[in-house]
Amino acid sequence: MTMIIPIRPDVSISANQAAIKAAREIADLLREKLNAVIGLATGGTQVAVYRELVRMHKEEGLDFSHATFFNLDEFIGIPPDHPQSFHRYMNEHFFNHVNANRRHVHIPNGMSNQPLAESARYERMIKEAGGIDLQLLGIGRNGHIGFCEPGTFPNSKTHATALTPETRKDAASSFGGLRHVPKSAITMGMATILRSKRIIMLATGKTKAKAVEAMLTGPVTRDCPGSFLQGHPNVSYYFDQSAYARVAIAQSMPTPQP
Ligand code: PGA
Repeated sequence: MTMIIPIRPDVSISANQAAIKAAREIADLLREKLNAVIGLATGGTQVAVYRELVRMHKEEGLDFSHATFFNLDEFIGIPPDHPQSFHRYMNEHFFNHVNANRRHVHIPNGMSNQPLAESARYERMIKEAGGIDLQLLGIGRNGHIGFCEPGTFPNSKTHATALTPETRKDAASSFGGLRHVPKSAITMGMATILRSKRIIMLATGKTKAKAVEAMLTGPVTRDCPGSFLQGHPNVSYYFDQSAYARVAIAQSMPTPQP
């Protein structure tokens, strides 16, 4: 098997240091382009990114007031103030603490009774904003990006999708049991994400090691939506040592002879 490893990131760092590097890349863009369009992600991995962005706002005056924000996804069927909604996450970790203009903050409406129309509206808004300058991403254990679950087509736009059993299981403890986890979500599609001018991929912790390996060294396949990033010309990868461990082992092995 040919192994293509596109990058050798600085991975001798902690999860927190990786997140801080990702936050600094966002901050650098904002300083260059005040009205940048930034795509945001949720999840445990990203908490440290928002902590650093909030710190830079408070201590260094980092200005978010001219920027536009689009979140990747939202669960269908839970209200914005639900403790596990991505609306709530974004407010608690980020928007309540910075000077973003709320009129320029966009998150899919998971309470819409017309998810198809909501998805089309969201896609249109991103286009009208001029597309995403920089999209922050994490990766799920099953290789999902946003809620582009395994099986998602690379040409997909914002859409409503069923959540896989693995994704629902990963969310079960935070929802207080699997039966409380929504069964579907609205997510940017792979094409929506891949049209971003620049992408930051941040993954930390050993539970992500297999997904990171598949994303970087496996075939480009719908089985691992993260692998579609291999075709994007401008991705910054940030990993800690644990998330990168399996790739590091593969890199240290001799190249197989034909
Ligand atoms: P996590 O989620 O940061 O909570 O691990 C990442 C994802 O599922 O995309």
